[in-house]
Amino acid sequence: MKILGIETSCDETAMSVIEISPRQARGEEITVLSNVISSQVKLHAKYGGVVPSLAAREHVKNIKHVFKLALNEAFKTGNWELGTGNWPIDLIAVTRGPGLGPALLVGLTFAKTISWLYKKPLIGVNHLEGHIYSNWLPPIRVSSKFQVPSSKLFPVLNLIVSGGHTELVLMKNHSQHKIIGETLDDAVGEAFDKVARLLGLGYPGGPVISKIAEKGNPDKYPLPRPMINSKNYNFSYSGLKTAVLYLIRDLKIKTLSLELKADIAASFQKAAVDVLIQKTMRAAKEFNVKSILLSGGVSANKLLRSELQKNSTETGIKYFQPPMEYTGDNATMIAMAGYFNYLRNKKIPLSGIRMDANLNF
Ligand code: KG4
Ligand code: ZN
Repeated sequence: MKILGIETSCDETAMSVIEISPRQARGEEITVLSNVISSQVKLHAKYGGVVPSLAAREHVKNIKHVFKLALNEAFKTGNWELGTGNWPIDLIAVTRGPGLGPALLVGLTFAKTISWLYKKPLIGVNHLEGHIYSNWLPPIRVSSKFQVPSSKLFPVLNLIVSGGHTELVLMKNHSQHKIIGETLDDAVGEAFDKVARLLGLGYPGGPVISKIAEKGNPDKYPLPRPMINSKNYNFSYSGLKTAVLYLIRDLKIKTLSLELKADIAASFQKAAVDVLIQKTMRAAKEFNVKSILLSGGVSANKLLRSELQKNSTETGIKYFQPPMEYTGDNATMIAMAGYFNYLRNKKIPLSGIRMDANLNF
């Protein structure tokens, strides 16, 4: 079975093709045939964040080209123009929310058009569910069984951390999701982006903060760990960002040296990660989960990956993290989530698949 994934929820126009072998006693095997991502990050960088109308305009410009690239790369032969060729895809999976409304609409409209044109079933996927399923994926062109074995996996605790979300999601099985905690204000990725801006490090902030933090002292500045001891599993990152703002102001230095920036970045990163680890581990124990799955753009963070790995292992809980190439927004994870939705047999007519910018589980 070959699945085309389509993702346009934010500032990446992405399409991928994955192939899943028939169900056999030894389990399915998956191969990622293509993973095309056209990023608009440079365009939005000058605004310090994603501008929805610009994002939609770029998706419209790029989507046909990305489609062609994803199919050409997957099938190597032929020239895959829209509306031509023997259609080799069995299922189309598209992100229908949450995300930026105008951006989501571009992908969804494109997906509906090709579904109608080629008479292939279409599945609308929750972007966050997509991030969760990035954990099942092997690296590109490597055929393998799912990274996450389904047996003895549940209940699962998902920590989903991105530019728009900070969520703890409990999964009893593939179709039962329950949000047990989320951010009350800024998402953790957003905090990385804002702190990077305060330090004059550009956008997106996550990669550059974590890079510069490697040279810094994480204990130099005692920053707050908001809500770390609160009884619930919610998060709050706007206070931490403001604490960094006041710290920089109180230093009363006109131009921060690279060394100072590294210490601030390391102290901020440590505070942000500490809260994630403490809350995740406490929830894992309370809900007696068998595995912890990390996902979302911030799951690329090395400190978060190693700390969560260490804490899970110490507690005897299985731990999974996505391969680095699937941490940010991509369509391979959408195709993967589409497959699990398809197994659940969610047959919805084409007209019933609607965009929902605030889609929840
Ligand atoms: O999942 P994603 O690509 O898009 C959204 O759905 O938001 O996540 C993007 C976020 C950005 O805020 C970016 O700064 C953050 O992920 N990020 C990181 C790292 N790499 C990307 N945050 C911390 N450390 C990183 N290495
Ligand atoms: Zn995302």
